[in-house]
Amino acid sequence: MIPKVTYLKENWQFQKIADGKDLTEPTDNWETVRVPHDWAIYGPFDKSNDQQTSKIPEDQEYIPVDMIGRTGGLPIVGKAWYKKNIFIEDSSKNNKLFLEFDGVMSNSTVYVNDKKVGSWPYGYSSFSFEITDYIKFDSENIISVSVDSKAHASRWYPGSGIYRNVRLVETSPIHVKYHGTYITTPAVSNKKTTINVETTITNHLESRTVSVVTTIIDNKEHCVAEKTDEIELSSGENCISRELTIKQPKLWDIKSPNRYFAETQIIVDGETIDRYMTPFGIKTVKFDCNKGFFLNGEYLKLKGVCMHHDMGAIGTAVNNRAIERQLEILQDMGCNAIRTSHNPPTPELLDFCDKMGFLVIDEAFDEWRAPKVKNGYSNLFDEWAEKDLTAMIERDRNHPCIIMWSIGNEIYEIHDPVEGPRLTHFLQDICHRVDPTRPVTAGFSAGDRAVENGLADAIDIPGFNYLVGNGPNINKYEDYHKAHPEWLIYGSETESCVSSRGEYYLPFVETGTFCDENKFFKAQETLHINSYDMDAPQWGYAPEYEFEAQKKSPYIFGEFVWTGFDYLGEPTPYKTEWPSRSSYFGIVDLCGLPKNRFYAYQAEWSNKEVLHIFPHWNWNDGQEVPVHCYTNLNIVELFVNGKSYGRKEKSDDNIHTKYRIIWDNVKYEAGEIKAVAYDNNDKIVKTEIIKTADVSASISLKPDRSTINADGDDLCYITVGIYDKNGNICHKANNRVFVSVEGAAELIAVDNGDQTSLESFQADNVKAFNGLCMLTVRSTKNEGLIKVTVTSEGLPETKIQIKSK
Ligand code: GAL
Repeated sequence: MIPKVTYLKENWQFQKIADGKDLTEPTDNWETVRVPHDWAIYGPFDKSNDQQTSKIPEDQEYIPVDMIGRTGGLPIVGKAWYKKNIFIEDSSKNNKLFLEFDGVMSNSTVYVNDKKVGSWPYGYSSFSFEITDYIKFDSENIISVSVDSKAHASRWYPGSGIYRNVRLVETSPIHVKYHGTYITTPAVSNKKTTINVETTITNHLESRTVSVVTTIIDNKEHCVAEKTDEIELSSGENCISRELTIKQPKLWDIKSPNRYFAETQIIVDGETIDRYMTPFGIKTVKFDCNKGFFLNGEYLKLKGVCMHHDMGAIGTAVNNRAIERQLEILQDMGCNAIRTSHNPPTPELLDFCDKMGFLVIDEAFDEWRAPKVKNGYSNLFDEWAEKDLTAMIERDRNHPCIIMWSIGNEIYEIHDPVEGPRLTHFLQDICHRVDPTRPVTAGFSAGDRAVENGLADAIDIPGFNYLVGNGPNINKYEDYHKAHPEWLIYGSETESCVSSRGEYYLPFVETGTFCDENKFFKAQETLHINSYDMDAPQWGYAPEYEFEAQKKSPYIFGEFVWTGFDYLGEPTPYKTEWPSRSSYFGIVDLCGLPKNRFYAYQAEWSNKEVLHIFPHWNWNDGQEVPVHCYTNLNIVELFVNGKSYGRKEKSDDNIHTKYRIIWDNVKYEAGEIKAVAYDNNDKIVKTEIIKTADVSASISLKPDRSTINADGDDLCYITVGIYDKNGNICHKANNRVFVSVEGAAELIAVDNGDQTSLESFQADNVKAFNGLCMLTVRSTKNEGLIKVTVTSEGLPETKIQIKSK
């Protein structure tokens, strides 16, 4: 294999430095860990972890408040060491060695054999250091990495440590540079496409002639174009541009995400000394200020979500299956776009977006020079912004999924008519220089400030956060479109609706932007939030307000909901209440279970037939319960124990009834509610039944896949459900289940989506939250059966088997 790439995963030694001690004072106490590793996810939760006193003007907070759990209540802060021994043979070929880090959180410094190689402070950037001169060949070498994660450095859970992949890469002295290819497709047509491949080759030797072969390979591994040139390489960096043509290209699309691969080979005296693979895709993108967004000539609304980078109970430690599963769940909902809020993502996320067909806004920063948190990016901006932004774009610019670069989220410079446009130009120019093919955006809060102060004008595509806010009839998209018809407009952040899966409180009131002055957010003692999807902080709103604005104006080319999944940290609106420690914003909860809103989006965004009624059906006799239904089917009839509450359609009565069918006062009686959807010919298309649950009597285990890979990394997610003796889900059950896993896997995490739970994610037991909880098991490298046994007091033991091969 040329180059030789070794993932450094196993047998790292790890040590957290005691509080008050310095990095120079490690003890002999080392723990063996696997990388990617997030030390903070092991807890324990504690309200004193990274407690921040802060005010957020965006949230109309003008006096600082003590924010508890803002970064998740987990021990993210502190100094730590990682070290690993590796034996490196001398190839006797003057080979070069590099350590590639996809991201280390944060302020990392890399040493080889105790000599400092380099540092990279921003925890979300990928970087590579050459280590050849530090290596003792044919001998053991020690790689060590120090980490110094500061308090008050983030507004959400960042994780801590070497939380992304690390590779040792050995190349020949002449090789393609790290992220050294740039592929563009300037002239795309159905008949043929020109492919420009720009390759930077580093030559550590004297100048010499080599042949460089560039081969374009399709997704069936057929060579579709090839070019070979003899090139005189000078010593140092050489940039080579070449043009290839392929006939009848298969375009990359969200429905058929066809990829191609450009293979660059460097050949000296008949021997291939370097081989570098670059996946890419061929597509056309058009943004039209009146008509919206077009992918390969076809109109497309971006049905996007914002995503932070944690993966729930496994924290931020990158795992392919965890990322893929999040995307599968979102795709099932009809989502077609991701905004990597508010930082460069792990490269694996972009690989999956390429393969699965998501469009991506790749975002760089949450702060520029004006701080949001004391030790945030503003401290790094002057020295690092250009390096970090360049690193992101050089790494990511060949991904077909990426449609825009975002240079920031709600940066405070919107209030500054001088710094705002200046820094917008500074960062945008970097993007244009490194990738002239994509437009640049930013998510602006307080849109009017960004407009008045010139930032919206300065940027290619102004992204506006929460534009249908501030009143029921206000739709600022329209105002901006009228005032600036030349602007391309979309909702870079929308909704911020909040809820806790399976929680209901009656009577409910709508809160959020559109509530009248007397309806403030109603805090519940449980620190949970109603699942009727009408609650939002004062800048947010229920999904239907945004659906309506988007539908009305095709020129708005889409939205990015805050957020796809719940994430650790930012437990708004319970910012100051403990034990709230994770967000309520997700359409999907922290463990991956859909909340009701999931079906609102699925009905609006996907082509699936959707019929989803709520709430549960365990109330007090005679109680009046509103029953809501998300559907994209025409007519729905509601029955309570066979008695009809009438057929209804969605109506223009108010914004909610346009997108959900509501039976306001359904009298509770034990039994069942049934929704029956009919088509226009009165034919039944779909039925959904919710039954009153008796006491819990059994456990069900549903794995997301019956066979996983025996590679030591693959995951199986098992949903645990608590059922009554009649097979009905017990909506309010909170039974504690105990888990044992035998055979070819281990239990690595448990969770239930409860934002207030302080129990360890690594325990062997977990309580159900509103009837459900989630187990995550990881395969070993041994093939065979995985036997999962779950017990709970008073319930029969339940087992399942999964295969690992
Ligand atoms: C936005 C911000 C996000 C998140 C969200 C919560 O203003 O960009 O990072 O804080 O509010 O509603």
